[in-house]
Amino acid sequence: MKTFLGVRGMHGSEIQALAEMAATMGDRLDHRLRGHAVALLFFEPSTRTRLSFELATRRLGGWPVVFGPEGSSMEKGETIRDTVTTVSALGVEILVIRSSEAGIPEAAHGWTGRAVVNAGDGANEHPTQALADVVTLIDHFGEVGGLEVAIVGDVAHSRVAGSLCHALPALGAGLRLVGPPDLLGEHTGLPTTEELDEVIDEVDVVYLLRVQRERGAVIDPGYIDRYRLGADRARRMRPGAVVMHPGPMNRGVEITDEVAEGPRSLILRQVANGVPARMAVLATLAEGLG
Ligand code: NCD
Repeated sequence: MKTFLGVRGMHGSEIQALAEMAATMGDRLDHRLRGHAVALLFFEPSTRTRLSFELATRRLGGWPVVFGPEGSSMEKGETIRDTVTTVSALGVEILVIRSSEAGIPEAAHGWTGRAVVNAGDGANEHPTQALADVVTLIDHFGEVGGLEVAIVGDVAHSRVAGSLCHALPALGAGLRLVGPPDLLGEHTGLPTTEELDEVIDEVDVVYLLRVQRERGAVIDPGYIDRYRLGADRARRMRPGAVVMHPGPMNRGVEITDEVAEGPRSLILRQVANGVPARMAVLATLAEGLG
């Protein structure tokens, strides 16, 4: 594997293999990245993704070099492309990139020939989040195949959904998208419904998404009534069904405190699994570095 730009195009067995590798990472320290620098180029805000890539790099014995636009030459007008080629020229061999524009991680691979990991690009893909979610589902249910999953909310602007809409069906899960039509976008071939109440008692996983107001999404009056997962709605879920969310949560909008902290919530497990999932990706890329 030379780059990890997305899960679209990956076979279910490849995704499964990476998830199984992540499961072997445990709390062990490793040296597979020893001597290698990993640049974390975050052109857009992040907490869990950035920190988990940094922890993953350190746990593999690599050197994380963390970049954010604030305080950098981007404030003097330097472009993303010049920033990326500069970091590559410094000798950094793996570039982890988050951008608000889709396609920047792929372009960065073209500009530099370096190993690139997509840490979320626009509304396109967020493959390592999908991998952390797959690890979490395998952890909890044993396997992804056969699960029924509803992804609820602002699917249109969600790169997490962009990756999960491929990864989950590729692993044999049933998937439906739930939300108002203007937030569902075009995920052709997947069943959609406008009413969460129609599917709440038919799924094993309710995967909630934040409404991304910074990308132009609007929370209509009525959104909270129809889509917020609170204790009353959660009581209608199947026994054993779980709640997931990639974070950051907008508490009170798509989820209540009670559900976020309730017994069905896997949300902090998803965060925790972000580290071994990213270790698996970085360790696999390290094999190609020589
Ligand atoms: C998401 C993202 O940035 O794509 N969060 C994450 O990385 N876990 C989701 C969001 O911003 O709502």
